[in-house]
Amino acid sequence: MHKDVKKILITEEQINSAVCRIADDINHDLNGEPLLMVIILKGSMPFATDLMRHLTMPLTLDYMQVSSYGKNMSSSGFINLKKDLEQDITGKNILIVEDIIDSGNTLKKIKTLLEHRNAKSVRICTLLDKPSRRVVDVTVDYVGYEIPDEFAIGYGLDYNELYRNLPYIGVLKPSVYQK
Ligand code: IMP
Ligand code: MG
Repeated sequence: MHKDVKKILITEEQINSAVCRIADDINHDLNGEPLLMVIILKGSMPFATDLMRHLTMPLTLDYMQVSSYGKNMSSSGFINLKKDLEQDITGKNILIVEDIIDSGNTLKKIKTLLEHRNAKSVRICTLLDKPSRRVVDVTVDYVGYEIPDEFAIGYGLDYNELYRNLPYIGVLKPSVYQK
């Protein structure tokens, strides 16, 4: 285990099983219709690349990046769009892929934005969900795991841009961010 990790929350095996379960559900719901995966940079990259290899419909990819003003470890309500999609999404089935939903501010903003562009459907999937932290209401269609209110790192999730490369989801030692 990495020296800055207090404990492992979700193992590689558990991640794999959530990826397969979510992919099965999406394959079932889309029933062969084309899908545009909207990958939210940077944190959802590992999840998205694993997930897409289990999806069976005609699949295309695009990317968005947002940043939130405010403290390091939680998002404020002010979301800044740093990178937008490269295409018109009119009439398309959209799947927003996120690493984690916390307050809900980020996903609410992205979902509202895309819904106003006349997509055929907009679904959300997230690997992790911290329901106890929710501030705004947003419907999430596919969830890997609910986790408690602890700061998670690994498998895309960062603290100060580090730890994204860990193969599991862990809890960061408080001594790391209290320095
Ligand atoms: P929300 O807007 O509060 O729902 O926060 C979503 C974003 O905050 C995620 O995309 C992450 O970048 C970040 N975030 C929230 N909780 C965690 C965490 O426990 N570890 C790492 N990043 C987090
Ligand atoms: Mg993120």
